[in-house]
Amino acid sequence: MKSLLFSRFLLLLPWVLIVIIVLDIDSSRAPLPALAPRGGGGIGGSRPAAGRLPPERRGPEAALPTIYAITPTYSRPVQKAELTRLANTFRQVARLHWILVEDAATRSELVSRFVAAAGLPCTHLHVPTPRRYKRPGLPRATEQRNAGLAWLRQRHQHLPPPQPGVLFFADDDNTYSLELFQEMRTTRKVSVWPVGLVGGRRYERPVVENGKVVGWYTGWRADRPFAIDMAGFAVSLQVILSHPKAVFKRRGSQPGMQESDFLKQITTVEELEPKANNCTKVLVWHTRTEKVNLANEPKYHLDTVNIEV
Ligand code: UGA
Ligand code: MN
Repeated sequence: MKSLLFSRFLLLLPWVLIVIIVLDIDSSRAPLPALAPRGGGGIGGSRPAAGRLPPERRGPEAALPTIYAITPTYSRPVQKAELTRLANTFRQVARLHWILVEDAATRSELVSRFVAAAGLPCTHLHVPTPRRYKRPGLPRATEQRNAGLAWLRQRHQHLPPPQPGVLFFADDDNTYSLELFQEMRTTRKVSVWPVGLVGGRRYERPVVENGKVVGWYTGWRADRPFAIDMAGFAVSLQVILSHPKAVFKRRGSQPGMQESDFLKQITTVEELEPKANNCTKVLVWHTRTEKVNLANEPKYHLDTVNIEV
């Protein structure tokens, strides 16, 4: 009886082992979750990225459209803090290429150093806003966003199609959830979603009926053709490339109309693709950083060391 049991056991053992091995291989091949740490894949980022994942982790990401984030930024006491928050978010997004555009005549040392250590594929550009446009009440970052658009178009002239990609404008002071990037990644032409803490309300949002945008919930200038903040939309790379003249305009542009003026050139309200559960979820917030109190900052350097802040 004992020897019968033992021979049965021996007969089954190899099969049990095979099943265990097959299950183990399968689970190690399972695709990475969409929010897995980014794998670098720096498609020609002008700065090398530190701390990238090894090539074997890049596989499943290769199929994802690249998200290009254009961020205008300018020198002020909170700049490095803002960029740090932003990089900490972007580092968690797969296949994201950061186009950081300084509002300056040259690339600053602070931002150059920051980019080199950011651990992200990043293109660092700069263009100064002409002095006459640096006035309260005038639109901000027009030249910087256009520089980002020009870089994107130029770069893709030399690359063969198809180049799946999505562009969005990521101001350096907003707050972005990781879910937002999942939503915008599937943009076919132009996608839209709600933005929190903007327009004098808790949120603004596109109003959606039967899957189409039919109007805007907003407390500010409801007459805007696209009553949406810069943080509320994304555009596919194909649309950017097939409308080579679409840019942000200084002439005739009023405060708060930049988004509408730009979107008018590339799409129609009927065409918009609502994201974030038919525009019922806030995944990005138009946060603004309080001006820092430097009342006690000495006029001349007093400390024994020089510290970058
Ligand atoms: C709102 C919108 O959210 C912006 O997208 C729009 O550009 C702006 O209004 C406008 O008036 O043009 P708001 O929070 O008032 O945003 O603007 P900021 O966050 O101060 O500036 C928007 C972006 O431009 C930021 O990334 C900021 O770093 C950059 N910026 C601002 C410059 O590059 N140069 C400047 O002189 C000011
Ligand atoms: Mn802002």
